[in-house]
This record gives sequence, C-alpha cells and structure tokens, in this order.
Amino acid sequence: MTFSTGLQQLRSPACVLAAGMAFAVGAPSAAQPAGGGAAETFAEHIAPILQRSCQECHRPDSMAPMSLLTYEETRPWARSIKARVESREMPPWFLDKTIGIQEFINDISLSDEEIDAIVRWVDAGAPPGDLSRMPAPLEWPSGDNFRLEVEAGMGPPDTVVRFPPFTMPAVAQDTFFRPFADIDIDEPRWVRAAETKPSGRQGRRIAHHASAYLHQPESADFLEAERGLLAGQAAAAAVLQAARANRSDDPIDTREMFTEWAQGKSGEIYPEDTGKLVRPGSRMEVQIHYHAVGEEITDQLEIGLWFHPRDVAPKYSVSYVSVGTQNNKPLHIPPHTVTVHQGSFTLPAPGILHNFQPHMHYRGSAFSMEAIYPDGRRELLNHADRFSNDWHVSYIYEPDHAPLLPRGTVLQITAWHDNTSANRNNPDPRQWVAYGPRTVDEMAHSNSQIIFITDEDYERMRAERQGRQSQNQN
Ligand code: HEC
Repeated sequence: MTFSTGLQQLRSPACVLAAGMAFAVGAPSAAQPAGGGAAETFAEHIAPILQRSCQECHRPDSMAPMSLLTYEETRPWARSIKARVESREMPPWFLDKTIGIQEFINDISLSDEEIDAIVRWVDAGAPPGDLSRMPAPLEWPSGDNFRLEVEAGMGPPDTVVRFPPFTMPAVAQDTFFRPFADIDIDEPRWVRAAETKPSGRQGRRIAHHASAYLHQPESADFLEAERGLLAGQAAAAAVLQAARANRSDDPIDTREMFTEWAQGKSGEIYPEDTGKLVRPGSRMEVQIHYHAVGEEITDQLEIGLWFHPRDVAPKYSVSYVSVGTQNNKPLHIPPHTVTVHQGSFTLPAPGILHNFQPHMHYRGSAFSMEAIYPDGRRELLNHADRFSNDWHVSYIYEPDHAPLLPRGTVLQITAWHDNTSANRNNPDPRQWVAYGPRTVDEMAHSNSQIIFITDEDYERMRAERQGRQSQNQN
C-alpha cells in the first residue's frame, strides 16, 4: 500500500519502460484489423502488455502462480487470461475509471483497447507471430538487495529493522503474522526514505503485503519531547494531531501507520524537505500477509531506513491518516444485507493527499472518497467499484494531480459492505458483522498519507498549479 510535494515512489523498471511503450505499442494493438481477422500476435502486441502490467508478479520468484515471460509459458493460460482481464480482475486495479482522478504513478491497469486486443488475440487462437520481434526481456531485480539501494543509487540503508522469521508450511491458509522489532538508533532521526522487503527471492513468493506501524512510548516526557522536536515544522500542530487521531487506550491502537508495502511496490523516497520523525525507544510492528505456495518457505521481513543528515530537520512531516476512522457511525452489518457507512476526517491544516487506499475486509465491496471543501463544493476524488479483500492496492497520485486541500476540507469516505451470498469473498452471510481486527470483522477507512503544509505554501502551490495548467492549455 505505497508513496513533487507528495512522496515519490520509485517506479519499477517495467513501469519506466511502460511509459514509452504505451505510445509505441498501444496504438497498433488498438487498431481493429481490416477484413475482420485478428491482427494481434504475442510477439508484437501481447508481450509488451504483459511486461508492463503482469510480469512484476507473473515471473519466477514472484508471487503469482505462473510465469508470463515467454510465449511458451503464456500460451496454456490464454483462456484464463482472457477471462481475468475481461472481468478486470487482473491486473489488480479496482478503480472506476470513469470517475475522479485517473493520474497515478503506479497505474498498471489495462486500457479498454488493451483488453480488446488480448480478447481478440485469444479468440484468434493466441498466435505467436514472429517471436524474433519480441521486445527485449525486462531485467528484474534479484530481491536480495533493497531496490532503493540499487535502482535509486541510494546505497545501503542507514539502519535495517529486522523482524523475527516466519515459516510458511507448503499448504496452509493465508496467515497474518504480526511481529515487533526495535529501531536501532540512539538519537531522534528524520527518515527520508523507507523500503520494506522480504528477505530474498523465496520470501517474495509468499509475502503478499505488509503494513508497518510505529509504536512510540506514550509517556508525558516522550510526548513533550516530541512537541519540541516538531516545533520548527510547518503545520506542527496538525502533524501532532494527526499522529494521535487514531489512537486509543488499546495497546494495539497506540500506534501510527508508518509505511506499507505490496508486491510491485518498491520504497518511498520523501521529497527534499519532507521526512518522518523516529526516536530511540520506538518500536516497529509489521503485519505481513503470507500465503502458501506448495513449498515450505521461511521469510524474514526487513525495513530499510535512510535518514536525513543529523543536523537537518526537514520542513514537512508525512502523516498517515486513517480517513474514516474518525467521525463515523459504528459499523453495523446485518446478515444478508448490503450496507453503506460513512466516516470523515477534517483537515486541521492545508495538506496534500498522497494516496487513496481503501481498507475493508471480506464483506467490503466498494469504497469512495470525496472532498468537501470549506466553500461547500464537493469533489468525488476516487471510487473503487470492485473492492476485493484479496488486494490492498494503494493508488498513488501523480504529484501534479494529488489533491491539494485547503484547511478545513472534509475528506469523507463511503464504504459498501456486501454481506449477501452474492459476494464471492463472503465466508458466511448469516453472520452479524461489526468493527474489529479479524478479517471476519469489518473496517472502513482509507490508509492515506497527508503532507500538512502552511497556508502560505497552499496559496503558492495552488498558484503554481494554475500557472502550469493554463500553460498546458495554450
Ligand atoms: C500485483 C501482482 C499481479 C499482477 C500485476 C498481475 N497478477 Fe495475475 N495473479 C496474481 C496472483 C497472486 C494470482 C493468484 C491469485 C488469484 O488467482 O487471484 C494471479 C492470478 C492470475 C490468473 C489466474 C490463474 C489461474 O490459476 O487460473 C490469471 C489468468 C492472471 N493472474 C493473469 C494476469 C495478467 C494477464 C496480468 C496482467 C495484465 C496479471 N495477471 C497481473 C498476481 C498478479
């Protein structure tokens, strides 16, 4: 679930290539051949789509059940591929593309033209075409190093938080593993980049996604010191308020979301003037979703942290906000019904919304987020019309399209839960379901990151954006 004035996310090599390919290859695959017969071939039209949108997961040593690197590997799956792309179950990207913002830095979804091309190709018998014209194979990172270390040239992390190992049996139900680990620092430090990674190639096969949380001692001294450390920051009061907004007396909840990872996502690099404060005595908790792959595998999750230099306190702090956990009605989902619940978060300072990441469990079916501006204007930012608990996709906005929100904006989420037998994920439509941590309980929030800024920053950034937009129109 990942991360300009927003956070940057390193694109995978596939994504970088994709930007060029979309123009080079998208057009011919979209063309409906004259005379009715399918013109699409694997080599020319399908392989580039698989490179961009599938191979991150569908390759050896990754999480998907089969590799889609070559024609020989792909051919037996042709019918299944057609079914999964037509139903938009693959690749995992569940936004309604007709509503809201569509500019994301990690968009692996297929266009209608690409889906049509795959369907025509399969219907025509999945012809290979001239395999000597295949695009060059992509190079995938080995998984042994942090990607930021290699691909972003950042060198080894300043510290690595290592969690206890976990062994997944060959055959077992999916498991959530929740270990804790200490952060090995002796003075307060500002994180400037973070990356979560399974311990190696084998770990990547079983690790599906992982959320990391920061647990800070709640003593009066610790809080007082935190206030002091944040004092020089833009919108410091808002940052403190956001950090505490989700906490309760429950030890599980005295934590703040720190970073989140899923297959396909590498690390997060914060912009020059942005960071996240961690202090000695803090611990990290991680929740990892492991799934069995027919072979016993042991993994040890690691989080690499790169710090700002010791004497540098960045101007902005990244705040994780669970949008919808506040100001909500208790979740109440009777048997055999579809329910709608809403929750909201009011911005205590102007801010930039970095990402949209719906979080629900088995009964979750759709989820939207709306901005209600102080002048009463409403804007539907995004709507995930096909939510599935199998995937926790973080939709990360392109920096120029990330919502820039004035102080007092209400971010309002709407969550649909389908507790009927029509919901394929539903383990039992006869149950009453309420809020809770197990997957058979429910939740309804967006794991979003907000960068709070000053009022002057807001005015300046708004003017800059308007300037760029009117330039583009000319
Ligand atoms: C983020 C990782 C990821 C991406 C990207 C992805 N897949 Fe998958 N895919 C999976 C996983 C995991 C499964 C197995 C679980 C499931 O069936 O949902 C799967 C299952 C499938 C299946 C069903 C296999 C079967 O057992 O019948 C097909 C077909 C498929 N993917 C095709 C694709 C295609 C085509 C693309 C690209 C257009 C793609 N996938 C992109 C992870 C991914």
